[in-house]
Amino acid sequence: MKIREILRLLAIIALVLFMLPSCVKEGPPGLDGANGKDGVDGVDGQDGQDGIVSCVACHNLTTRDAITSAWAVSKHGIGATAARSSTASCAPCHSHEGFVNFINNPGAAPVAISNPGSISCATCHTNHNSFDFENDGADYALRTNAAVKMIMYDDPTKVLDFQNSSNMCVNCHQSRPVSPALAPDADGNYSIANYRFGPHHGPQGNLLEGVGGYELAGGVQYPGTKSHPHRKSTNACVTCHMHEGDHTFKASLASCTDCHGTIDNFNVNSVQTEVHELMEELAELLVTAGALDADRNIIAGTYPIEVAGAVYNWKTIEEDRSMGVHNPAYIKALLTNSIEALQ
Ligand code: HEC
Ligand code: HEC
Ligand code: HEC
Ligand code: HEC
Ligand code: HEC
Ligand code: HEC
Repeated sequence: MKIREILRLLAIIALVLFMLPSCVKEGPPGLDGANGKDGVDGVDGQDGQDGIVSCVACHNLTTRDAITSAWAVSKHGIGATAARSSTASCAPCHSHEGFVNFINNPGAAPVAISNPGSISCATCHTNHNSFDFENDGADYALRTNAAVKMIMYDDPTKVLDFQNSSNMCVNCHQSRPVSPALAPDADGNYSIANYRFGPHHGPQGNLLEGVGGYELAGGVQYPGTKSHPHRKSTNACVTCHMHEGDHTFKASLASCTDCHGTIDNFNVNSVQTEVHELMEELAELLVTAGALDADRNIIAGTYPIEVAGAVYNWKTIEEDRSMGVHNPAYIKALLTNSIEALQ
């Protein structure tokens, strides 16, 4: 046979073999063949972002243990004054329960707490506002970072607003005058009712802002509110008192170095020494004026407004306890002008 005929015959056989199964009824399927060899592994795709990495930056045992032991030795954690919360007016700032009540019931009269606990994690923290930290920023799950009304003014538009987590602090760390507003009577006098005259402990928020002193006229110009760089820095209280999340809440030297370079104490340019000396000078003048006793306790009585105002300033700066650091320009102006008024 010629090659052409062989090829035609093969083509016909192939066609018949192809058609046969469709004409004949299908038999049962045969057994599966053996598995083929595994193919070569494909190349790994690009890793997606791990959903919890951002969370674990804060939510891990190392961070939590360090924070818990720091907090435990802080005054907030020790809670020596928590018991003050058994008096309604003291409750909002001195205990966990009192503060939570205060924040949850804005404008309501404070209530006394029968078994008050110290200022703890859940006093300052609750839940995150959002988990979109990239766009919303870390909110640290703070209970509040809203602007805070200044207690010393009967005016809801007068607020402290550092626009960050330091607002948390000034709910409590602000002046709370325990005496009537400081205004002269018709004779230009003011009556100090008792030794508790002046602001309660903790006027730090007001001084940082540059308000809250009795601004006697004098040779030094008051610098104006919100003017000091310590207030302008984006973080205020927490910049210096919570450096890298420090929960001892103590001002740290490490926090100053970003702006002041390496320093070995807080007495930058001897400002604390200067403030200390001005405080001594003012106290002596107030002893001479009869408004302070030799132990520096306030003596009740009626005084010219300049004297009462100077007592108020002395007390405010004493209670602030930063010896000028919170607002060097404002604090020095208050002291210098008070001294001038008494001389
Ligand atoms: C910048 C630090 C930080 C980051 C980042 C962070 N958290 Fe938090 N988170 C906190 C703090 C602080 C608290 C409140 C204190 C606490 O409960 O330990 C808190 C509280 C919470 C709570 C409430 C716990 C409770 O008892 O109700 C949840 C839930 C939570 N975080 C989930 C997350 C998740 C999920 C992520 C990641 C998407 C995340 N957090 C990222 C700091 C952070
Ligand atoms: C607006 C908040 C606020 C209120 C209200 C308040 N305190 Fe205080 N108190 C503070 C702060 C903040 C401190 C700590 C200030 C500091 O360390 O400089 C403090 C400190 C004290 C201290 C000194 C603690 C120490 O270590 O020397 C005593 C005592 C005290 N308060 C008693 C009271 C009493 C009593 C009342 C109620 C009549 C009261 N406080 C109401 C915020 C408040
Ligand atoms: C007096 C209020 C207060 C108390 C009490 C407090 N915190 Fe905080 N915490 C803050 C503030 C404010 C910040 C945010 C600081 C900032 O903006 O840098 C913060 C930040 C944190 C962070 C993030 C830290 C970081 O390095 O990013 C963690 C975690 C945390 N707190 C856990 C706790 C735990 C746990 C406790 C209790 C042991 C606690 N906090 C008690 C106010 C508080
Ligand atoms: C719920 C009210 C409250 C809040 C919020 C609060 N504090 Fe306090 N803080 C107090 C009270 C009250 C004391 C005094 C406690 C005591 O002596 O028993 C105190 C004490 C302190 C002390 C120690 C003073 C000392 O004598 O050594 C520092 C520093 C401090 N707070 C800083 C801060 C900072 C910074 C924040 C914000 C992150 C903050 N506080 C938030 C009420 C508060
Ligand atoms: C520029 C840094 C800085 C800022 C901002 C700052 N502080 Fe201070 N603060 C200090 C220094 C420094 C001291 C003195 C500490 C010392 O002598 O040990 C101090 C003292 C204090 C004290 C007295 C107890 C202590 O630790 O000695 C309290 C309470 C306090 N500050 C709270 C606050 C609060 C609340 C804010 C925000 C309104 C604030 N501070 C803002 C640096 C700062
Ligand atoms: C965000 C930056 C910043 C941080 C953080 C900061 N400071 Fe300042 N501080 C300044 C600036 C800016 C001035 C103004 C300098 C001037 O007027 O010459 C200043 C002024 C001062 C002054 C007055 C100096 C003078 O000669 O009148 C003192 C005191 C001071 N700082 C202490 C501190 C201490 C203590 C810390 C840390 C606990 C601190 N500062 C943290 C920026 C900062």
